[in-house]
Amino acid sequence: MILKRIWLKDFRSYSNFKIDNFSSNVTLVTGENGKGKTNLIEAIYYISNLNSFRFSSRESLIKNGSKVSFIRAEITNGERELLIESEISLLGRDKTLINKQKIIRNKEIRNYFKTIVFSNSDIEIVKNGPSYRRNFLDDLMIDLYPKMIPVKLELEKILKHRSKLLKTISYKSGKEELDTLDIWNQKLSEVGELIVKTRKEVLTILQPELEKSFYQLSFNEKKLQIEYISSWEGRLIDALQKTQKEDLLKGITSVGPHRDDLSIKINNLFSRDQVSQGQQRIIAISLKLASHKVIKKQLSLSPLLLLDDVFSELDEIRSKKLLENLPSSQTIITAAQIPSNIFSEVPIINLNIIGN
Ligand SMILES: Nc1ncnc2c1ncn2[C@@H]1O[C@H](COP(=O)(O)OP(=O)(O)O)[C@@H](O)[C@H]1O
Ligand SMILES: [Mg+2]
Repeated sequence: MILKRIWLKDFRSYSNFKIDNFSSNVTLVTGENGKGKTNLIEAIYYISNLNSFRFSSRESLIKNGSKVSFIRAEITNGERELLIESEISLLGRDKTLINKQKIIRNKEIRNYFKTIVFSNSDIEIVKNGPSYRRNFLDDLMIDLYPKMIPVKLELEKILKHRSKLLKTISYKSGKEELDTLDIWNQKLSEVGELIVKTRKEVLTILQPELEKSFYQLSFNEKKLQIEYISSWEGRLIDALQKTQKEDLLKGITSVGPHRDDLSIKINNLFSRDQVSQGQQRIIAISLKLASHKVIKKQLSLSPLLLLDDVFSELDEIRSKKLLENLPSSQTIITAAQIPSNIFSEVPIINLNIIGN
């Protein structure tokens, strides 16, 4: 996938901005702090996900003082030429057209245009709670198996219904209510088992690539282990029945795919709290590079790779290693400072000169 042209109107700090000279290999985007490097990466991310990787409101994407923001991008996907046009509106509805056709579900956009992004917030996947790791794995799962999109939506629906029911049932409730709970247990166990089975398949594909990526970046010195941590043992339906009494007291579903986690260790140390910040960052970068490799291999297409501020906190040797091990696909890297010696051959877009 090649991004040929992007045009931003009233997006974040940009009033009217166009770039049409991205290389089909690596392009470095540079500029002082606050020049709009992350904003540019965010705009490209937006048109491939229809949301942002920053934990900010959609209103914050619209330039201060404006009411509507436009992103327009021309992409080549194999033989296909795509024009993606997105409108983010303060008052009206957001809208996205692909070759002038409306898309129905936001998640569908990734069937047309796939990006893999590393940004500073990805360190949360390593450091923060289990939901960050589940979301990472589920995003990759959906890329590899788009059929899982409705299954995931179904899971959310079931969990919502079940927890509502748990809150209304009390010791006074009769057989009828408990029978209804049984039906939801059955539904949850079917959908839950399928999601976990698919997640584990994805993890099996990801694992060797992740180990390789980490090994390359950590300078061949440390070994990474990743493992799926299930919130129950045996069959989910049995586990739900076993925890039902407690669930009724608490009004929550305490076992299921929404409670699972990934354990990531380096040389047997927990990456969440037993390794350095630098190592956590290298794990997060490796997770993204490995996802890129897996998608490329499994789907025979190259997502656009976006690396925002990836060299900050990496020493020169690791920065060099990263560049040597980049996949052969279009890659956009931002950096406030151009790391010395390592960027001699790469085209540079300087936002200090062309930004607005
Ligand atoms: N909605 C907005 N309207 C106007 N300016 C914004 C908006 N959102 C962010 N900015 C500004 O964009 C500037 C550039 O941000 P950013 O892309 O993060 O810079 P950097 O080049 O350091 O990555 C910041 O000064 C920020 O205040
Ligand atoms: Mg930035």
